[in-house]
Amino acid sequence: MELAQQVAVITGGARGIGRAIALELARRGAWVVVNYASSRGEAEQVVAEIKARGGEAVGHQADVASLKEACGLVEAALALFGTVDILVNNAGIARDNLLLRMKEEEWDQVLQVNLKGVFNCTKASLRPMLKQRRGRIINISSVIGLAGNVAQANYAAAKAGIIGFTKAVAKEVAPRGITVNAVAPGFIATDMTASLPAEIQEEYRRRIPLGRSGTAADVARVVAFLASPAADYITGEVIRVDGGLAI
Ligand code: NAI
Repeated sequence: MELAQQVAVITGGARGIGRAIALELARRGAWVVVNYASSRGEAEQVVAEIKARGGEAVGHQADVASLKEACGLVEAALALFGTVDILVNNAGIARDNLLLRMKEEEWDQVLQVNLKGVFNCTKASLRPMLKQRRGRIINISSVIGLAGNVAQANYAAAKAGIIGFTKAVAKEVAPRGITVNAVAPGFIATDMTASLPAEIQEEYRRRIPLGRSGTAADVARVVAFLASPAADYITGEVIRVDGGLAI
């Protein structure tokens, strides 16, 4: 129970990678706030699953793209559990299109949720972390932010932005005992990738040296490691969890 009595806020925690992170942190003893934008039923299921295993969890609706709602999310965690020790910025969307065809709103939506959302939730969580001189911020980037991808200029820009943000904030808050790291997943089997055409999914799997797509649990274990005391001396790092895809 290495995360016993640590309070963890996970954005987009109702589905996919966020859900796996919520379950993994709870399994290690953390009290979990499962944020969701619209997947209320799925968030309630995650909360019920954690409670059934003897853990502590609560769901909270908030659009991370809104600073006001991000602050509300952190305030809810403070009201219920007294602090925030771990923030996992996981919420994300994709609106793929070739740049020539990309609509302004496809660019804006992806930047607003994937990058501004990270700013919003990090800013909202910093005060309690600074006060207790301890905290872990873990941002879910992507190998697309490292290598780029056709039809994903918006997504790649946001995910690369997260890496710059991670390093800048890591330097800024290190003297206060807070670490900030990023995880860059490769091709992970979730709703997000299930919506890709079958031939593109197959092409990804063919390019992965370890020979399989990743699971949400593969990513969740690395996030749990970064949240754990084993990662005390790691900050400003980006860990790829991609089966070698971006080598
Ligand atoms: P998903 O679509 O299954 O889950 C995304 C979650 O974010 C959902 O629960 C959704 O409700 C939530 N969300 C979306 N907009 C939100 C908003 N405005 N406010 C609050 N929550 C919001 O996708 P998946 O695959 O689980 O992705 C999780 C993260 O991992 C994302 O940041 C994604 O970009 C990243 N990622 C995923 C990869 C993959 O292969 N699945 C690869 C690399 C990164």
